[in-house]
Amino acid sequence: MDVITTVKQLRERLAHEKNVALVPTMGNLHAGHIQLIKEVKPHTHCLVTSIFVNRLQFGPSEDFNRYPRTLENDCKYLLDAGCDVVFAPDEKEIYPTVQEYTVDPSGLQHLLEGAFRPGHFRGVATVVLKLFNMVQPQIAIFGKKDYQQYLVLKDMVTQLALPIEIVPAETVRAPDGLALSSRNSYLNPTEREEAVQLYGQLMAIKKAILAGYKDYTTLEKVATAYLNSRGWHTDYIAIRAQDHLRLTTPDETQLVVLGASRLGKTRLIDNLEIALN
Ligand code: PAF
Repeated sequence: MDVITTVKQLRERLAHEKNVALVPTMGNLHAGHIQLIKEVKPHTHCLVTSIFVNRLQFGPSEDFNRYPRTLENDCKYLLDAGCDVVFAPDEKEIYPTVQEYTVDPSGLQHLLEGAFRPGHFRGVATVVLKLFNMVQPQIAIFGKKDYQQYLVLKDMVTQLALPIEIVPAETVRAPDGLALSSRNSYLNPTEREEAVQLYGQLMAIKKAILAGYKDYTTLEKVATAYLNSRGWHTDYIAIRAQDHLRLTTPDETQLVVLGASRLGKTRLIDNLEIALN
């Protein structure tokens, strides 16, 4: 496995590779990333994992500074998982000058996560487009845990006609149901026990909808009130159409319930797809 830090070395290393898959990450890898890499590996000649904590996608009061940087450990995991190339640039390599050209995603960037994290998806789309230009992969894999991010990037590739296939990866969960996330490492033991309640509420909504319950607004409100009564600060619990997270219509069959809520200093997000046919 090669660990590369500059775009020049990266281009030289990948110059003759025909089938490159990219897994973009911000590092602090967990079992979810590793499972994903093991699944993709047999279908590609060259698997590249990028590790870069992207300042552009963090708001001024968000956790950019305390985001865990664990490159050495990440590389050990990646070697075991069969990764071929780790691209771990520093900030100067990705942003040698102030980034004045940015990618403004579709209307999706203003909903849900976008409404609570203004500019977040612009930062994500901009760095991902740069990573695509640097690595030039044929496929790129994004976890469905960040459902809206996956949709934004799928749209970006379609609308900008990028020759890249975006492949979604299923969310990996701890035995109690908590979605694996680098940010789980912020939780103290009491919060870690409590954290599963977000998944629990999404699951309760999913079950109610599958059982035929149609009053989605009430379901959203009840779950929000329940979490808040336990000390969470909920940004949203929302039942939407999987297609572009549109507001639902009565005949909608492909739904997703998404949630974002803060437990102590940690903001957790999760979602569950719901198919009604
Ligand atoms: O999902 C993430 O870890 C990041 O948003 C990504 C896609 C690597 C862009 O910085």
